[in-house]
Amino acid sequence: MLRTHTCGELRISHVGQTVTLCGWVSKVRDKGGMLWVDLRDRYGITQLMAEEGKTAPEVLEQLRKLGREFVLSASGAVVERYAKNDKMATGDIEIRLEAVSLLNPAKLPPFLIDDETDGGDDLRMQYRYLDLRRNPVRAKLELRHRMAQAVRRYLDAQGFLEVETPVLIKSTPEGARDFVVPSRLHAGEFYALPQSPQTFKQLLMVGGFDRYFQIVKCFRDEDLRADRQPEFTQIDCEMAFVEREDILSTFEGMVRSLFTEVKGLDIGEIIRISYDDAMRLYGNDKPDIRFGMQLAHLKGYGNELTSGANFVVFDSAAAVIGVPVKGAAEYTRKQLDELTEWVKRPQIGMKGMVWVRVEADGSFKSSVDKFYGPEVLAAWAKQAALKAGDLLLIVAGDAALTLKAASELRLELGNRMGLRKADEYKALWVLDFPLLEWDADANRWLAMHHPFTAPRPEDLHKLATDPGSIKANAYDMVLNGNEIGGGSIRIHDRATQAKMFEVLGFTPAEAEEKFGFLLNAFEFGAPPHGGIAFGFDRLCALFGGSESIRDFIAFPKNNAGRDVMIDAPGPIDAIQWKELHLQPKP
Ligand code: AMO
Repeated sequence: MLRTHTCGELRISHVGQTVTLCGWVSKVRDKGGMLWVDLRDRYGITQLMAEEGKTAPEVLEQLRKLGREFVLSASGAVVERYAKNDKMATGDIEIRLEAVSLLNPAKLPPFLIDDETDGGDDLRMQYRYLDLRRNPVRAKLELRHRMAQAVRRYLDAQGFLEVETPVLIKSTPEGARDFVVPSRLHAGEFYALPQSPQTFKQLLMVGGFDRYFQIVKCFRDEDLRADRQPEFTQIDCEMAFVEREDILSTFEGMVRSLFTEVKGLDIGEIIRISYDDAMRLYGNDKPDIRFGMQLAHLKGYGNELTSGANFVVFDSAAAVIGVPVKGAAEYTRKQLDELTEWVKRPQIGMKGMVWVRVEADGSFKSSVDKFYGPEVLAAWAKQAALKAGDLLLIVAGDAALTLKAASELRLELGNRMGLRKADEYKALWVLDFPLLEWDADANRWLAMHHPFTAPRPEDLHKLATDPGSIKANAYDMVLNGNEIGGGSIRIHDRATQAKMFEVLGFTPAEAEEKFGFLLNAFEFGAPPHGGIAFGFDRLCALFGGSESIRDFIAFPKNNAGRDVMIDAPGPIDAIQWKELHLQPKP
């Protein structure tokens, strides 16, 4: 080893020892008579010191040539510091230098390697290896490491086997576009990169593996967002001989143990709500339940509290939805106008916003006083469980659009009121998703989760007659308004799976061509099985108090799906084009 200790290790108890440290020069302060160097490595920073008259002149001379990020080996005695720094773990001591050896010089880094950096996103990504030297970035990847180890410990203790599945496969439909890899040996044919190991984990169940997991890369060619990367990592799991309840309790256990082990935190009750209730109460299938503000349906969901007043906006709307805001009756005209502008932004798409407030004396004031009298407003207030001092913000219009707008407005108010704290955690299960959703463009049914998801047993008989009304035996885990995992009980018999493909518009020949291997496997004794996959990057980001997953990935892609450090994707040469039986774009 080139060093005796790390730069984060030495304490007052080491005083008197002669040590050798290796690391990067973080800072040099030359005060003429005295010179200090901050030496940094993964573990921390240690101050090195040299003194005119005491330190050998050749050592001082070497130190005066150092620049930022030079790689150094430094030896000397550990001494107690005159001026201690209680902000540093090693702040009680410094190294009185006796010898230094320059292991490698460094060019001036293009941005400050510090907790707060002056480097913009692009620059940091281009020089990601320098960015990785910064504490906050390293801490995020250390968190990721601890999470991965905790996941492995938990699942191993539960009898799960970690099995690797192939990366060069045939397309699995998970709803996104595939990344494909042309085959050299098979002209005109392509592998697809897995969007998830879904079919393989099911085949492992047929293979008798019973409890499988894998922390695995998945690839999806979809539009990117803060919580999406084209290649991302799942904690992918499957179990045989189980019912939904077994999966929910096993993985509730995993999430609970992650919280205790990694964050020392009790996540509390993980409530369960149906997809239908999530949509009705929050307008969202991944509700953030750190705060209330449940939606009040004034029109729609079986309610009609707005008719008979000749208010065209509400009369012509399919849905009128209120967002109750506690203690916000004092909102000024300006604040209300500003929120109205907010819901009118194209991303939200509402034409306007109506407000009702309950004054301190219990009377009502609203922006629609011209149309609605106190009895009607009282009925709305009751529906929204308003108390004196509360405010109701109301949007109206097309049912789906309005529900989405109300959900967005609720989240925005949660943000503005500081109710969505990054260090407060609330998880829940959303159950009973619809099995199918209608794709109006393609004029056919799509699987809402994936085609291998089983209908709820009581709905199975409707597969041929009324597929749109079927609920799936599927579940999502939601943490702070983010979908962190999803899975289902699977179909495990050939007839039902074939019927499912038929409902999804596959001809028997297409189903056979694409999924013959699975249909066949189901005829060789497939056990009942089900599973789940967690978005590992998302889970890490949320544990780290962030909704953006990029910093929790060592080498992420940018918003355009590019790796700007290695400059990928990139062209291939003429020989590769030829070998892969491809034609370059003219
Ligand atoms: P699903 O498609 O719901 O299920 O994916 C599981 C979880 O993976 C995360 N995730 C992503 N994270 C980052 N970037 C992405 N582009 C991305 N896409 C998804 C989400 C999501 O909850 N095979 C099924 C699982 C199963 O049925 O067992 C599947 O992949 O957190």
